Amino acid sequence: VHVPVICVDGPTASGKGTLASAVAHRLGYHYLDSGALYRITGLAATRAGLSLDVAHEHTIARMAGNLAIKFTTAGRVLLDGHDVTDAIRTEEAGMNASKVSALPAVRTALVALQQGFRQLPGLVADGRDMGTVIFPDSGLKVYLTASAAQRADRRYKQLISKGISATLPGLRADLEARDARDSGRSVAPLKPAEDALLLDNSSQTVEESVATVLGWWGEKR
Ligand code: C5P
Repeated sequence: VHVPVICVDGPTASGKGTLASAVAHRLGYHYLDSGALYRITGLAATRAGLSLDVAHEHTIARMAGNLAIKFTTAGRVLLDGHDVTDAIRTEEAGMNASKVSALPAVRTALVALQQGFRQLPGLVADGRDMGTVIFPDSGLKVYLTASAAQRADRRYKQLISKGISATLPGLRADLEARDARDSGRSVAPLKPAEDALLLDNSSQTVEESVATVLGWWGEKR
């Protein structure tokens, strides 16, 4: 059976998670937040006291391949039965995810886990390489962008609303550093798939972006 997949890739804080989970909800599809897998791997490696570089590439890859993760229906993420939802959402966790995700063996270790989310009636997956590497046969690939200023501003409001302190220039610098690492790495660099449709949501509401993607999906299938 063919299980449909919609991919939403793009840079840090472009709103992929919000868009992809809303589209999944509207279609009644499953949702994969692939960044969470890299965030959890970074957290597990950090907790094990490992430096997040080639020196420990294979140890970290082994950890990634054996993660005991559970995404609950209430939207929580459990690692070894412990709730790590908040721990993986910090800026530091994002930066650590970006470091482990640049290690080829770690990416390979997570392929099967990600592809396992492809189940009926369908999947919406968000990340950096969903359309280019993990689901190349996807029926709709969206590459979501927004200006760096917009993305930093959204992330800032998100953090402040959660009571986490942050500065706009600091966030923007972190975000650009993460984009540079994600785009510059040798394996699965961040870039639009050749057959991706570009969506710049700088001046769109979430509802407008959702409507755009649902419209494209309606035309494609
Ligand atoms: O999307 P999110 O910010 O949660 O991703 C955290 C990091 O994980 C990204 O900066 C990127 O380095 C990495 N990532 C990746 N491939 C994916 C998803 C995330 O390399 N498919």
